[in-house]
Amino acid sequence: MKNLVNMFLRKQQKLKTINISLPRKNQRIFIGRNIVDLFINESLAKKYFNFIILVDSNVLCIYRNDIDKIKKVLGNPKIIVIEPNEDSKTLNFLNLIFERCCQNKLSRKSCFVAIGGGIIGDITGFIASIYMRGIDFIFIPTTLMAQADTIIDKVAISHKSLKNIAGSFYSPVLTICDINFLRTLNDKEIAMGFSEIIKHAAIDSEKHFNFIKSTLKNNKKDFQKYPWEEIIYKSLKIKSDLAQKDPFDESNYHKGLSYGHTFANVLEGMSGFKLRHGEAVALGMKFSAIVSRNVGIMSKNIFNEQNDIIKEAGLPTVMPKSLNKKTILELFKKDKISDNGEINLVVLEKFGKFSIKKNIDHKIIKKALELFNTI
Ligand SMILES: NC(=O)c1ccc[n+]([C@@H]2O[C@H](COP(=O)([O-])OP(=O)(O)OC[C@H]3O[C@@H](n4cnc5c(N)ncnc54)[C@H](O)[C@@H]3O)[C@@H](O)[C@H]2O)c1
Repeated sequence: MKNLVNMFLRKQQKLKTINISLPRKNQRIFIGRNIVDLFINESLAKKYFNFIILVDSNVLCIYRNDIDKIKKVLGNPKIIVIEPNEDSKTLNFLNLIFERCCQNKLSRKSCFVAIGGGIIGDITGFIASIYMRGIDFIFIPTTLMAQADTIIDKVAISHKSLKNIAGSFYSPVLTICDINFLRTLNDKEIAMGFSEIIKHAAIDSEKHFNFIKSTLKNNKKDFQKYPWEEIIYKSLKIKSDLAQKDPFDESNYHKGLSYGHTFANVLEGMSGFKLRHGEAVALGMKFSAIVSRNVGIMSKNIFNEQNDIIKEAGLPTVMPKSLNKKTILELFKKDKISDNGEINLVVLEKFGKFSIKKNIDHKIIKKALELFNTI
């Protein structure tokens, strides 16, 4: 009977599902409206010995009643409230969480629950991946960024100016993308999420790129009208297909997801993490497109199309002027995608066709930096 009720509810809520098979863990993602109660229920509570909830401090303020309900269903576990800033994605902060996990007698049969944006997801995922060599975690992403680019087999924290330098290949067992959370995001947070939606579209196909372009152009800031389920589902299909094709990140499919991310990591680190991830990714895609133009593989038309959509989404296309070029080059060499001091970058020929350009001449990087704010 309960199953029938659930089936009925799923139909009503136009639930979309993605099942991901990975070498280390399988992951189920659900996308829909008002769906948290469908999955955070008594049968889930019975599966685990106990839980610990890590929640974003702002989300706790806005959604206190919903979180109280989740707490009650899960047997009133301890809650750790986290400030959503990049300082929380560090080893120092993880020490504090470890202490709390040990105090709360978490065992291999326990489960972490993360409720918040990408920062809360990364911290929880990283700690879940190493606590007792890995225990389950569930993610309830509440930002557009954390839904449309939700964690699939990669979690990381940063060290000094090196963004996401320590991490694991690890996934939540269950991800619940409840569209309902998006209604309390401001325009800036919606724009942040669009950086990854645009990236997924650019590496996927012209058709999907045009769908995102027309959604933005036709609806402007009337976010209620956006077909969120479809946008998030498609973004996550693109991400999960690449992750499954190349689970150990060896054959370059997975690296397509890093389009724009190498320069983004550099910029975030140099800004002392004041620049938001979404802003940095937008600037990173422009940088990769300039390099793609300069090595002769991207047409002016594709470059302009990408620049236009970034602007349309309310994302930046101009970078801070005071950045030191020498430091930029040094940080490029230290990024995960580079080997032996050689600079590597994901480049784009056209929408749906990316590749890894290896050992890029420093002159090309310097030229791209000079040109950046002029085009
Ligand atoms: N591991 C991965 O696959 C992955 C993917 C994408 C991003 N990330 C990481 O995630 C971080 C960026 O994530 P983010 O952009 O979600 O930032 P974030 O976690 O800082 O959240 C952004 C802001 O939105 C607020 N917020 C969250 N949910 C809200 C809601 N429903 N209503 C109103 N306000 C809400 C938060 O309190 C915060 O102020 C970066 O560190 C990035 O590296 C990781």
